[in-house]
Amino acid sequence: MSEIRRLGVLTSGGDGPGMNPAIRAVARTALEHKMTPVGIRRGYQGLLDNDMENMTARSVGGTIQRGGTVLGTVRSPAFLTPRGRLDALHNLSANGVDALVIIGGDGSMRGAIELHKLGLPVIGIPSSIDNDMYGTEMSIGVDTALNTLLRSIDMIKDTASSHQRAFPIEAMGRNCGYLGLMGAIAGGAEMALIPEVPFTLDEVLINLQNAYIKGKAHCIIVVAEGASYKADTIKAYLDERKEETGFDSRVTILGHVQRGGAPSAFDRILATRLGWRPWRSYWPASAA
Ligand code: F6P
Repeated sequence: MSEIRRLGVLTSGGDGPGMNPAIRAVARTALEHKMTPVGIRRGYQGLLDNDMENMTARSVGGTIQRGGTVLGTVRSPAFLTPRGRLDALHNLSANGVDALVIIGGDGSMRGAIELHKLGLPVIGIPSSIDNDMYGTEMSIGVDTALNTLLRSIDMIKDTASSHQRAFPIEAMGRNCGYLGLMGAIAGGAEMALIPEVPFTLDEVLINLQNAYIKGKAHCIIVVAEGASYKADTIKAYLDERKEETGFDSRVTILGHVQRGGAPSAFDRILATRLGWRPWRSYWPASAA
């Protein structure tokens, strides 16, 4: 592989806590190895719009503790077309960018593979709160999102117990039940409803009745986003059968709160290690 002098870095897909420490590690490691890091704004869309700029060590100063991504991110439909990808390659070449580090989730990695097929040296850094990426036990952002979910479950439990309520709590995760399941286990929930295990509303009802018979002060039901039924639907079903369950019910859909916030220590360290590592394992010729 020819020498890499200018290294592009972008964040793509849904943002997540830990993207900034990853950008920081990529930029500073590149500088350490005498490469110029080039920050591409708004993900693949920035490649199409030629929206990129040289970075210095100071460009990423004070970012390690910040949630989101300082480079911005967009889900870019234009990049999904063959024409879009060729335009992206053209702009990279016009800016003298020899290789690209892509920080993102499974959709972003599919884009990375397409660019790789066209001959561009590419490294993918897994970052998605969903934890649904092949070959990666923990992607960047999962730990922080899980702890945010857990804090919410703990808080909701306080109020649920005071009122003896059933509480479907909807967690993010797209088609992956990891966040919901781990949140339910760590939070001591009565039920975890995840996409990987289909269920019926009657089964939820029976579990709820059992919780009441056991004398539980609450019934916390963690519903992963892609589960057979949404939290709202479950609440409506339970409301219609209030006489049979004993519990009054309320619902909380956590949504994007799980994507924000300062990255946890685990995510900062993981992001730093993944941002530093590529030079050692994949591009030894560029290593000092
Ligand atoms: O992939 C991360 C994620 O937060 C999923 O859990 C969720 O389904 C989706 O992104 C939401 O996307 P958007 O921010 O585009 O609404």
